[in-house]
Amino acid sequence: MAAIPPPETHPIDTSKPHPARVYDWFLGGKDNYPVDEELGLQIVSLEPQTKYCAQHNRWFMQRATRRLAGEEGIRQFLDIGTGIPTEPNLHRIAQSAAPEARVVYVDNDPIVLAHAEALLRGTPEGVTEFLQVDAREPDKILEQAEGVLDFTQPIALSLIALLHFISDDDGAYDVVERLVSALAPGSHLVLSQMAGDFDPERTRQAVEMYKAGGVTLVPRERADVERFFEGLELLDPGVVWLPDWHAELGVDEIRNGSPVPLYAGVARKP
Ligand SMILES: C[S@@+](CC[C@H](N)C(=O)[O-])C[C@H]1O[C@@H](n2cnc3c(N)ncnc32)[C@H](O)[C@@H]1O
Repeated sequence: MAAIPPPETHPIDTSKPHPARVYDWFLGGKDNYPVDEELGLQIVSLEPQTKYCAQHNRWFMQRATRRLAGEEGIRQFLDIGTGIPTEPNLHRIAQSAAPEARVVYVDNDPIVLAHAEALLRGTPEGVTEFLQVDAREPDKILEQAEGVLDFTQPIALSLIALLHFISDDDGAYDVVERLVSALAPGSHLVLSQMAGDFDPERTRQAVEMYKAGGVTLVPRERADVERFFEGLELLDPGVVWLPDWHAELGVDEIRNGSPVPLYAGVARKP
């Protein structure tokens, strides 16, 4: 396996909001700036449940990782669009089921890199690594991840709340296809994505708010989310509203019955 090159460093731009920091604000984190809070407040005034949706998204990551590291026996994880560390992070869940699990995190935001030490504190038997690479450069991700992961063995590729920041024109479907093509049979794709067909008018307003902040937001309808899984075998119950994906695997989750306009699904590569 090749050695992982040192991450490229880019200065943190605090003049405009960034998805990782706005998401951190939704989750009650401290790693965000006034511009991020400003956009977060606008979104919450439009949809008061947004903070709850972000938390639900974290719970989905935990449930999917528990299932993959447990029942499906996956020992390698490639998590793209990781976000600012929020406990419990993916490696904590995977390595509590399988201490030898190897995890590669990828994000393009330099602030995530600044906090990467929290992501790199895994079990002595396992491995955790962080790559600062843009998801729109899948070949670069694969080349660098090969330093840690064995692509002849199954890998869980997670793209959780990432693809709604990548437009079709920017190659969202090609990126997923390229990444999946590099995975061995028995690998899994885990994905969540903002829904475009839940409340189209409020969704349109949210897209405008993000756009004013310089962030591309791309909600997708269920059929378009299912397209990401083409050629794969969707695990039950398929692409569903995110809180409904194997709710029984949840630990300490709080449900208030509010709608969560996110789709989620997990599929296996045959
Ligand atoms: C909403 S957060 C989701 C974080 C985490 N996956 C979760 O579900 O809790 C989206 C993350 O995707 C990252 N991101 C957005 N566009 C990206 C891109 N083109 N390449 C890599 N990461 C990207 C952001 O920096 C942010 O950390």
